[in-house]
Amino acid sequence: MANEKQKTYWSKVGGPKWVGLGGAMEARLAPVSDLLIQHAALQPGETVLDIGCGAGLTSLAAAQAVGPNGHVLGVDISDTMLEAARALGTQANTANLTLTLGDAQTDEFSPPANVLISRFGVMFFEDPIAAFANLRRSTAPGARMVLTAWAPLSANEHWRKPLELVETLVGPGAPRIPHAPGPLAFDEPDYVSTLLREAGWQNGTVRAVEVNLHGVSLDEEARVACFMGPSGALLEEKQASPEQREAARQAIRAALPSYTTTTPDGGVHLPATLHLITATAS
Ligand SMILES: C[S@@+](CC[C@H](N)C(=O)[O-])C[C@H]1O[C@@H](n2cnc3c(N)ncnc32)[C@H](O)[C@@H]1O
Repeated sequence: MANEKQKTYWSKVGGPKWVGLGGAMEARLAPVSDLLIQHAALQPGETVLDIGCGAGLTSLAAAQAVGPNGHVLGVDISDTMLEAARALGTQANTANLTLTLGDAQTDEFSPPANVLISRFGVMFFEDPIAAFANLRRSTAPGARMVLTAWAPLSANEHWRKPLELVETLVGPGAPRIPHAPGPLAFDEPDYVSTLLREAGWQNGTVRAVEVNLHGVSLDEEARVACFMGPSGALLEEKQASPEQREAARQAIRAALPSYTTTTPDGGVHLPATLHLITATAS
């Protein structure tokens, strides 16, 4: 089966970490959902497909935007993420939202969507051209697609700085394979435009947009950077000892004020850059 590695990762490793943060990731990425929903310009009655819907926040926001005569289908490959999404859907009691376990690269979705959205759910496909060709077949002619993906590490200090600090403690990780499935797979605009064209999408655009992510606190940011994001992945790859992890946490905590700002409520703004990707179905 395609994407077996990602299914296992998001069900058994990444998903439990994400969901275990109890809504902190959703709060962190709230400015990105706002951007996504705004650019999708959803209209009452539209049919939306949310790819890699995760814990369901963007699907729910879309369901509210399209109203009772519209419909949103959120799809995710991870049972852990989907379980969290279903809990949210039940709580919201929204009849126009369906959440389904599936692989966006291979599964068929119906009815055909007018709009395809995704917040950071499209960078994990083993075969992105096959995936986007498949998704195009699940959309109505002329459907629009609005996605976000991460811009390069060099434009994302909130990941780059902790990674550098961890590298000084445990050494560099294995060289990154360009475009390999993962958070940074879509960091090159030309690569993304080309693959969308090859998958049959038209008018593809990739624009870098700066946002402020919302962190809970400086202490929590330092803790989270030791098990999530590129710094967390490197500590995992190197099987860092508890002492190395604690040294990493302290180094990241000390550096955080140099690249973030704190808010009056003790929260943290982390400047970040994403790629806003749009295209239309032929
Ligand atoms: C970084 S998370 C983003 C989750 C959600 N969109 C959000 O913004 O909170 C990436 C999500 O994509 C899902 N995913 C990865 N590969 C997928 C695939 N082939 N089909 C469907 N979902 C996939 C993962 O399970 C995970 O929930």
